[in-house]
Amino acid sequence: MNHTTSPTVVPSPTQAPSPSGELAGRRVVLGLSGGIACYKAAELCRALVKAGATVQVVMTDAAMQFITPVTLQALSGQPVFSSQWDPREAAGVGNNMAHINLTREADAILVAPASADFMKKLVHGGADDLLSLMCLARPQTVPLLVAPAMNREMWANPATQRNVAQLRADGVQVLDVGQGDQACGEVGDGRMLEADELLYDLVRFFQPKILAGQQVLVSAGPTYEAIDPVRGITNLSSGKMGFAIARAAHEAGADVTLVAGPVALPTPRGVRRVDVKSAQEMQLALDTLALSATVFVSAAAVADWRPAAPANQKIKKDGSGAVPTLAFTENPDILAGIAGSERARHGLLYCVGFAAESHDLLTHAQAKRVRKGVPLLVGNLGPATFGQDDNALLLVDEHGVVELPRASKLSLARQLVVEIARRRGG
Ligand code: CTP
Repeated sequence: MNHTTSPTVVPSPTQAPSPSGELAGRRVVLGLSGGIACYKAAELCRALVKAGATVQVVMTDAAMQFITPVTLQALSGQPVFSSQWDPREAAGVGNNMAHINLTREADAILVAPASADFMKKLVHGGADDLLSLMCLARPQTVPLLVAPAMNREMWANPATQRNVAQLRADGVQVLDVGQGDQACGEVGDGRMLEADELLYDLVRFFQPKILAGQQVLVSAGPTYEAIDPVRGITNLSSGKMGFAIARAAHEAGADVTLVAGPVALPTPRGVRRVDVKSAQEMQLALDTLALSATVFVSAAAVADWRPAAPANQKIKKDGSGAVPTLAFTENPDILAGIAGSERARHGLLYCVGFAAESHDLLTHAQAKRVRKGVPLLVGNLGPATFGQDDNALLLVDEHGVVELPRASKLSLARQLVVEIARRRGG
C-alpha cells in the first residue's frame, strides 16, 4: 500500500484536545526517523494531543518500517506525511510543497526518534526525504528539537558526538538521552527519553527563560520530628506547592535544588533533590545550599516544635494506663536565619517566605513578612490547600498586595516565578 496517497479519512483523535492543557494552542510537527523508539513516539503523539497541541506527523521511510502511519494518523487526528511527492493538501495549501507548508504555522518541530543517521543528515543539510527537506526549509523562527535514540556504542561514537555538538552550535535543541536497557540487549546511554519526559521538555522549552543564570533553592513539604524510633509528629503539608515552584523555576531556566521533607512526590525533571526529615536536618541542608543560591523560596511547612528529648528506644506501655509526658523545644526559624544572612542583606540572595494560615490571611502575611525579614511573602490558607492540586495565593511585599486567584499549583508557581523574576530584575 502506498501510504502517501492513502485516502484522507480522518478519524477523531483518541483524546479530544484539552483547551486548558499545557500545550493548548501550540502547533507541533512531530517527525519520526527510523528506530525501535518509534513505539514511544505513538505514546508521545497521544500525550501531545492530550496536552492540547495540534500535532502534524511526518515520517521517514525508515520510521515506517517500525510503525505504521495509520497509528500516528489515528493518534494525531491528522493525515501523516512521508513523501515530498505527496500531492495532498498540506496545512490547507494545495501547491504540492508539503516541505514548505507543514512548518509555516508551526510553533516547533520535534523529531523523536532522531536516529544517528538522521542527525548526520541535519548536520550536512541533507534533503532527500520529506522530513530532512522540511527541517532544512524551516524558517529560522521555527525551533527544531531532536530526541536522539540509538544503541549506546552509536551514541558514544565520536562521529555522533561531533554531530550532536554541531547541531547544538547550529541552534538545534538536542534533548538528553535516557539510560538503561536497550532493545539490542545492551545497557547504557542512548535510548530515547520516555513520552512524559519529552512532553515535559517541550513544555519547558516554550516557557520564557526569565530565571536563566539564577541558582534557585526551594524547600518543600512537612518536617518530621521524632518522638522515638517509630513515632513522630508532622503536619499535613503535601509538598505539592514547593515541588511545583521547583518545576516552574527549572522551566524558567534556573538551576534548581529542592530540599524536601518526607513526601512521596516524584522529583521534577532536571531538579536536584535533597531529602531531609527533621527541621534541624532541613536547616543544615538549606544553610549550606543558601551559600551559593541567588533565590530562596521557603515553601516548607517546618514544624515549630520538636520533642525535647526523643527516646532512643520505642516508648513502651507499662500496663498501668499512664501516658508519657512530652516536652517540646522550639525549632530554629530557618527562613529568618537565611533572610538575615550577609548574602541576603547584601542583595545576593532574594528570599521568599510562605505563610500557611487558617484565618486573617492578609494581616498575618503582612506581619510575618516583617517578622521574617523577607522582601516577598506568599500567603495561603493551609487547611484549604494542604494536599490539594490547586491553591490561591496572596503576595505581600513592601508596595502592597497581589492576589493570584485559585488555579492549579503549577499555574500559580509559574505566576510566582514571574513575580520573583520581575523583582530580581529578570
Ligand atoms: N519557617 C522556617 N522555619 C520554621 C518555621 C517556618 O523556615 N521553624 C518558614 C516557612 O518555610 C515559611 C515561613 O517560615 O516560609 C512561615 O511559616 P509558617 O509556618 O506560616 O509560620 P511560622 O513561622 O511557623 O509562624 P506561626 O506559627 O506563628 O504561624
